[in-house]
Amino acid sequence: MEPTRRPLLRALAALPVLPRVHAPAGALAALGALGARTASAQQHPAEPDRQPVNAGPYVPSPDGVVSKMLDMAGVGPDDVLVDMGSGDGRIVLTAAKLRGARGLGIEIDENLVALSVEAARREGVADRVRFVRQDLFATDVSEATVVTLYLLPETVNMLREKLRRELRPGARVIVHDYPLAGWLPETWQRLDEPEKKNATGVPIATVYLYRIPASVHGRWQASVPPELTRQRIALELRQQWQKLDGMATVGGREVPLADVALRGEQVAFALPVERGRVAAFTGRARGDAIEGTVTLDGATLPWRAARAR
Ligand SMILES: C[S@@+](CC[C@H](N)C(=O)[O-])C[C@H]1O[C@@H](n2cnc3c(N)ncnc32)[C@H](O)[C@@H]1O
Repeated sequence: MEPTRRPLLRALAALPVLPRVHAPAGALAALGALGARTASAQQHPAEPDRQPVNAGPYVPSPDGVVSKMLDMAGVGPDDVLVDMGSGDGRIVLTAAKLRGARGLGIEIDENLVALSVEAARREGVADRVRFVRQDLFATDVSEATVVTLYLLPETVNMLREKLRRELRPGARVIVHDYPLAGWLPETWQRLDEPEKKNATGVPIATVYLYRIPASVHGRWQASVPPELTRQRIALELRQQWQKLDGMATVGGREVPLADVALRGEQVAFALPVERGRVAAFTGRARGDAIEGTVTLDGATLPWRAARAR
């Protein structure tokens, strides 16, 4: 269901004028601990002094929305959360304080960066978070396991290619209010948020959770244990974002796969074999290989597949 597009657009009337972003000399060092790095030179080689795109005015997410975003993404101590356009830092700070995560806030407004840095010190999480004054479109986010966004609808969509290119399969992208067009959310929730009425005119918030899927579309050659079959198995997987279906060819006979699922790097499907028996495959997709286990008649054995050339 398409959520309303009016609220943040209304707040646009109060758009701040963005300062020019200078070469982020200290940013690399500040980001070092999180492994992130700037990419402005690579991103805009022809226009190094270009003004950054204004991705949205400062409108903070209410605490209830922040907490829902972190819940839906299942943020925990192993996560590196990057908030692109971090405002007063509340998402990064809450993730560090209440979930033990590490975090990076990317924010263009130097006053908001200063506020966030001070809050991190006051709240005792300065060792786990960084805030940088930087253009979010020109900052590499490849170390993130979770990315959070609360930006204008068109700028959210300008980030699709960047997120797809930089994030690893399994990384979660959690978006407040404006969905990523063409991406299929794993789940979404609408919340009553009276606090938003003043800022945006509408007392509701919608939160979308996306998970970056591994790329498994195409033909694969599977090696399965002889207990399953001694015939060759070829797989043809068809993928649209995380939606997956497919067909197996077993010794020249085509068999549709059942219960096909893709979640990050995890692939699962069921393959009917002879006499009504069904083999349940699970595996982890990494580059040109899928490796995992297959369960048949109560026995669990290894299998693997390689991309067919
Ligand atoms: C709607 S606020 C969201 C704040 C915070 N993420 C939250 O949910 O509470 C968007 C923020 O993005 C910042 N911003 C806008 N364009 C930016 C850009 N090109 N690079 C970095 N930050 C930007 C704004 O200054 C603003 O603080």
